[in-house]
Amino acid sequence: MSIHRVASMYLGLDIGTSSVKGVLIDPSQKIIGTAHWALKVSRPRPGWSEQAPEDWWNACDRVVRDLARASPKAVAAVDGIGLSGQQHGATLLDRAGRVLRPAILWNDARAFAECRDIEVREPRARRIGGNIPLAGFTAPKLVWVKKHEPKRFAAIAKVLLPKDYVRFRMTGDYASDQSDSAGTFWLDVAKRAWSGELLAATDMRPDQMPTLYEGTEATGRLTPAIARAWGMPRRPVVAAGAGDNAASACGLGAVTPGAAFISIGTSGVLFVSTDRFRPNPARAVHAFCHAVPGTWHQMGVILSATASLEWLAGVLKTPAPKLTAALGSTVKGPSTALFLPYLSGERTPVADAQVRGLFVGLSPETDARVLTHAVLDGVAFAFRDCLEALKAAGTAIERVTVVGGGSRSVLWLRIIATVLGLPIDLPARGDFGAAFGAARLGLIAATGTDYRQVLTPPRTVKTITPDARWRDGYEARYLHYQRLYPAIKAIHLQETVHGNQP
Ligand code: XUL
Repeated sequence: MSIHRVASMYLGLDIGTSSVKGVLIDPSQKIIGTAHWALKVSRPRPGWSEQAPEDWWNACDRVVRDLARASPKAVAAVDGIGLSGQQHGATLLDRAGRVLRPAILWNDARAFAECRDIEVREPRARRIGGNIPLAGFTAPKLVWVKKHEPKRFAAIAKVLLPKDYVRFRMTGDYASDQSDSAGTFWLDVAKRAWSGELLAATDMRPDQMPTLYEGTEATGRLTPAIARAWGMPRRPVVAAGAGDNAASACGLGAVTPGAAFISIGTSGVLFVSTDRFRPNPARAVHAFCHAVPGTWHQMGVILSATASLEWLAGVLKTPAPKLTAALGSTVKGPSTALFLPYLSGERTPVADAQVRGLFVGLSPETDARVLTHAVLDGVAFAFRDCLEALKAAGTAIERVTVVGGGSRSVLWLRIIATVLGLPIDLPARGDFGAAFGAARLGLIAATGTDYRQVLTPPRTVKTITPDARWRDGYEARYLHYQRLYPAIKAIHLQETVHGNQP
C-alpha cells in the first residue's frame, strides 16, 4: 500500500475559543497544511460565556476533512495527533458520556462567589492549587452548578476540559495532561496529581476526573470508526497534549527555565518556564505544570487583550487593523486618555471577576485615534502588571518572544516593549502557535524522540526594542494606570443594572 511509502505525519488540533485550528507537519516539522473552522461563543447572561461541546467536535471534524481534501496522502500517513485547547472550560458528562449542559468557558465570570466558598472550606487551597481560585477556573464553576443546577450536578460522571472532550470523542478515553489540568484548581500542582483536598472542597470525587499523563505521553489511539472516517488507516496515537498556553510554549520551544513569551490574543498571556513550582497567589500569578516532565510554568493572564481592541472596533464600526494603521508605526508617547482593559473582569494581578473597564481623561478633542491609542497603551500596562507580579515571585525575564494576532501591529509591539522595558523577539514567518506545539507533542508521543530535540525555538527575524525616548513618559503613565483599579474596585455597576447575578 502506498501509505507505507509516505513519511509519517503528525497533526496538531487546537480547540480555541474563536476557532479550531489544525496543523499538519512532517517528520522534519515542516508544515504540510493548516485549516480553521470558526466557533461562536454564546453569552446568555451578563458575565456568562458558553459553547456547545458538539460544536468543538464538528469543527475538528471539518478541519481534518479540509486538511484531507488538500493533502489526502499526508493525512492518511498521520501517526500521531496532539491536542491543545482553551483552558479551564467545564464540560460535564453523564455516565453514558452525554453532555449535560453547554460548557462553561474560561472567560465566564459567574462563579466569583464560589471562589470564596472553596477557600473557606479548604484554607490550604492557594498553596495546593498554585493560585487564588479564580472564577475562570473549572472548580468554582462546579460549585456554581451544584448550587444552581443540583439535578445536573448529581448526574455528573466526568468533568473534562475542552480538548479532553475532543479526545474522548476521538479515542473513547477519559484522559488529560498536567498543564491543562493545573487550570482546573483540582490539581496538586507541585505533585502533578489530583488533590483529594481540593476535590473534597468542591464536593467532587477522584473518579469524576480523567486519568493524568505528561503532555508528551500517548493516552490512546483513534477509534477504528474515527480513523476510518478521517482517512487515517494507521490509527494514530493521541498525545496528552497541553493547555493552549503551554502548547504555544512547546511551539516556541519555551521549555527551558526562564524562556518566556507573550501571547497577544483574545486574552493576553505572559508565560515563563520554571524549573519548579513557583506560586505567587497574592498577585494572581498562575503557577501551573508545563507540558514536559519535571517542568512548571508561571503565567500572568489578562482577560481582554485583542478582545479590547475588537470591542472598540465594534463600537466604532471600523476594523481593528484600520484603527491601528491610523496611528502609524512609531511610538509617540502615551495617549492623552487612559484605558483599563477590564471588560470581562481581570485575572492578574487583581483576581476580580466583577470589575469592569473604563476610559479616563476624555475631552472634546478625544477621537477614534486617541481611544485606539489608549486601548493599545492600556493592554501594554496590563502586561506590565503581569511582569511585576512574576518578578515578585522571584522570576527574572530578560526577553520575550511574541505570538498571537495582536503581534501584527508593530506599533503595539513597540509600545509593549517600551512599557515592559524588554526586547521582544518576532519569530521567523511561520506558525509557532498552539496547534503547531500540539503537533510537536503528537510527534514526540508517536516516535518517543527526546522532547528537547523536538521543542526547539524558531529563528528570530526581528527584535523590537524599548523606545528609550518614551520610557520615562510611559513609566509616569504606568503609575497613573496603577491607581485606576484601587479607585474603582468597589464600583460594581452591573449589580444595579441586573440585580445580583445568579
Ligand atoms: C489561561 C486562559 C486563556 C485561555 C484562552 O489561563 O484562561 O489563555 O486558555 O484560550
